[in-house]
Order: sequence, then C-alpha cells, then structure tokens
Amino acid sequence: MNPSWRFGLLCSQTGVTAKVETTQLNASLLAIEQINGAGGIAGRSIEPIICDPASNPKQFAALAERLLSNGRARLLFGCYMSSTRKAVLPLVEAYRGLLFYPTLYEGFEYSKHCIYTGAAPNQNSMQLAKYLFGAYGKRFFFVGSNYVYPYESNRIMAELVRQVGGAVLDEIYVPLAPQPVDFSKAIREIARTKPDVVFSTVVGEGTAMFYDAFHRAGFDAARLPIASLTTGEAEVADMAAQAACGHVTAAPFFDILPGPAAAGFVSAYRARFGANAPVPAAAEAAYFQVMLAAGAIGRAGADDPGLVQAALAECEYDAPQGRVRIDPDNNHTFLWPRVARLNAEGRFEVVWNAEARVKPDPYRVTQTLDEWSGGVHRLPA
Ligand code: ACM
Repeated sequence: MNPSWRFGLLCSQTGVTAKVETTQLNASLLAIEQINGAGGIAGRSIEPIICDPASNPKQFAALAERLLSNGRARLLFGCYMSSTRKAVLPLVEAYRGLLFYPTLYEGFEYSKHCIYTGAAPNQNSMQLAKYLFGAYGKRFFFVGSNYVYPYESNRIMAELVRQVGGAVLDEIYVPLAPQPVDFSKAIREIARTKPDVVFSTVVGEGTAMFYDAFHRAGFDAARLPIASLTTGEAEVADMAAQAACGHVTAAPFFDILPGPAAAGFVSAYRARFGANAPVPAAAEAAYFQVMLAAGAIGRAGADDPGLVQAALAECEYDAPQGRVRIDPDNNHTFLWPRVARLNAEGRFEVVWNAEARVKPDPYRVTQTLDEWSGGVHRLPA
C-alpha cells in the first residue's frame, strides 16, 4: 500500500479560542475526507495528525517542533491567534516546513515558509472602515484583547479613521481570558464618550461577554454598533440573538452566502458536524487551504514544501467564497471582501460586497482608504 501524505493539524480544541479553532479543525478534516473519498492525491490518501495546542503559543511551538523534528509532517495547517503563528514560524523556518495559516491577521509579515489564506488588512479593515464612516460616523472607540493582533489591527484602523478627519476616543485592552467584570471600564467609558462606532478586536471566549455587557448596558446597536473582524459565526453562537443584533463584521465568507459552492460547503459541514454548527470564515479558509495544498501536491507529485509552494503559484480553487489563488509575490491570497450585519435572529446579512477578488497587499503599499480597489481582480465572465 502506498504511504499516506501526512498533514499536521495545529488547531486548539481547548483554551480561549477553542471554539473557532475547532471549526478550523473540522473544516480541515472535511476537506481531507472529501479528498480521500475521491481517491486521495496521486493514489495516496492524506493522514491528518491532530494536535491540541490549547490556545497557548508555547504549546503551539512545542507541538510544531515535535511534528517537524521527527519528520512526522512537513506541512502544517492551523493557528488562529497571531501570537501562536509567531511562535510556530521560527520552527517552520528552521525545519524548512510550510505552515498554511487560515486566519485574518494584522499584515506586515512575510515568511517563505508560510501561506496566509485569511484576510490581510487591505481585504477587510479598509472596506469595513469605509462602510462604517458612511453608515455610522467617524468617532471610534477601540476595545481589544491584550496581545499583538489587537494592537496592530487598531493601529491600522486608527490610521484610516485619521485619514477621514475622525477621532479615536480611547483604546482599552482586556485580558485574553477575561471575566465579565473586565468589560466594566470599557462599557463605562463608551457611555461617557459616546462614540459612533466601537471597533472590537476582542477574540475568543471574551467576545460573547463583551456583546452581552454592551446589550445589558442598553446601547442601541442600530446607532452605535460594535464592528469587528474577529466576531464570526463561532463567537455569535455563544450570544443571545438580542445581544448580537445590529453589530457588523467584515470577512470574505459568511455562512449565509448564496450560490452552490457556499451552500454545498455549509451543508456538507453541518451534515458532518451538526445541524446547527457555526461555519465562519476561519473554517472556510481552513477548508480551501487544504484543497489548494492537495492541488499543489498533485501537481508537484511530492509534499516537499519548496515544490508545493512553487506548484501553488499555478493553482486556483473555486472556494465557497469565490475563486481563490495564492499570490506568489507575497504568499497571501486573493480574497473576496464583504461586510455583513447581524439581524434579529443573530444571522449575518451581507450589506456590502466587493463583487470581485482583491489582491493581497500585506504591507499596505496602497495607504489610502479608496486605494484597496486598485487590487481588484475581475475574473473573466
Ligand atoms: C488574530 O490574532 N490573527 C486574529
């Protein structure tokens, strides 16, 4: 029997971001099962090696080293928080592996040993900012979790706010694993300063606590929404619909997108993992990056990370969000920006859609608010 291709899945099933990372694990497994069910890659099946790094950067690093150092896997898939990606990257680089990273992040990074399949700031922050300025106003209040992504994402959002003559009224950080009481100061200051928009970079378990505290404080989300890039279907699943209603998120994928690719993915995911299972953008990226990796291995005839990376430049994939491909200029992905608002049932409704895929610009070579559209890449009809 042919040996299998081994994929190392670094997805936390415990800890503060377990909920969203479990969707990434499930979506990776779904893609692997579909590929294996269709005969594998070049007649060989994929063997997933599942790890639980417990939302902890040190454990991510230790497990990545264990997978890479004894040759169990050269291709790794996963990481949600930027702190965990940053912990894994030096090991992937030292052992000449390749990490597929399926999460939106703050940009300003490149590694020859990383493929970034979540949104860069020119594919979510810029479109979200433009939408918010038009719909709600330009006086922002920032609330975030205390680690690298929120600081850097807020720095980018602050630049966009200042570009249009707006103001950042305050910036408050809460512990990564907060208690409800940790949001009291933010709620008090939002009530006192009366912003037009609260931009939240809170991640994981604290997200539902924050939206719940905001709702109980009596703010009207129709006039003062919480806008976020890290509040997706997995975090909303922990909220009451009234606490979610009216708030805004930007992402390339939402579970309500029309069309056969999106609907087929969501129904296959729910058939496998539960009828009410949340299916966020983080899961969709985890799914399509396995499909892209499989296409590249098939093309290269090997899982050597260098050969896979070279072959990726030749691959496209009809992902649930639309057709995607990796940009060989920077190892990030051409993606389809969208902005959505939560309705009274706690479901997303798309309120703005780029209707084209956008070239990744992780170093924000284009700085101004409207310039993201310079990266628009229309597919032939
Ligand atoms: C993140 O930490 N990249 C959400």
